[in-house]
Amino acid sequence: MGKEIVVSGIRSTGFLHLGNYFGAIKNYIDMQEQFNCYFFVADYHSLTTHPDPTLLKPNVYRVLAENIACGLDPEKVALYVQSDIPEIPELYLMLNMLAYKGELEKTASFKDKARSQPDNINAGLLTYPTLMSADILIHKAVKVPVGKDQEQHLEMARNFAQRFNHRYGDTFPEPHPFNFGKELVKIPSLDGNGKMSKSENENATIYLADTDDLILKKMMKAKTDQGPSEQNSTKPDYIENLFMLMKLVSSQDTIEKYDADYNNCVIRYGDMKKQLGEDMVNFIKPIREKTLDIQTNTPYLHKIMKMGQEKARESASKTLDEARKKMGINFYC
Ligand code: TYM
Repeated sequence: MGKEIVVSGIRSTGFLHLGNYFGAIKNYIDMQEQFNCYFFVADYHSLTTHPDPTLLKPNVYRVLAENIACGLDPEKVALYVQSDIPEIPELYLMLNMLAYKGELEKTASFKDKARSQPDNINAGLLTYPTLMSADILIHKAVKVPVGKDQEQHLEMARNFAQRFNHRYGDTFPEPHPFNFGKELVKIPSLDGNGKMSKSENENATIYLADTDDLILKKMMKAKTDQGPSEQNSTKPDYIENLFMLMKLVSSQDTIEKYDADYNNCVIRYGDMKKQLGEDMVNFIKPIREKTLDIQTNTPYLHKIMKMGQEKARESASKTLDEARKKMGINFYC
């Protein structure tokens, strides 16, 4: 039996952060040996917010470089740019015929964006989930490593797959969200309000490109309080968040020490944040430095993109041929 097929993408809208790392990239790296992986930069998806055209290239290059610097091996996976695969927008068009206005309007991400950019509620925004479904279904993926915020989009991808299969005959397997830790993750922002994000909460989000000083400064500003007054009390959300981040980058001994200090009501949050900041610096620094090297190596990036495009188009063209035939778009035989 062949390896299971995996697809996932990251929008090229800004700097990658710890949420992207722990929600998505860490899984990519852990999956690259065992699965048949297709990972890409979702540049078409980024167009919904009308980014400055001159920023698109540096953003795409940086996301590619950040993925590789985190440990993704372009020889083992297909690493490509979404707009290099023309089969994706063609499948997107087909899936749009099966997607209904009502369900698209109800999508949480559409409602959020419609609220935050009322002057630019474009059709690309509305059909964001069908483009994402095309990204996934074009390779017949069954596993999609993503963070918790993408759960609804995956549910829609399954609906569109089922609808296509029902109408035109079995074509697409159902894709499911995936995380090695079982539960999908949402990395919270340091101020206790919402999640780490490429475009919001910048001072409470740790980016893979942040300098050591900035990381330490952001960590020291993380929300805390005067500490528990009763032994073994429940941690408030924002303290739980700090422990969660510690679990991601610190040693077991460190986590146990601060957990015991908390339970015994002797925790010093200043010390904890300093330790967490230092562990975070040790984690991010090598990724940042490697990214800078790769990002400026244009011939290397071109080679990677071409290699990824070739692998991805081979698989995408087979699926598209099949989908066209099933729909009856098959006029020359
Ligand atoms: P994007 O670019 O917003 O985020 C990329 C990945 O990072 C995850 N993520 C998080 N995980 C945990 N905590 C956070 N705070 C956090 N912030 C972001 C996201 O869940 C995602 O896995 N629509 C997608 C891109 C996309 C895609 C696809 C993904 C386009 N086509 C096909 C999978 C399959 C997006 O905007 O992700």
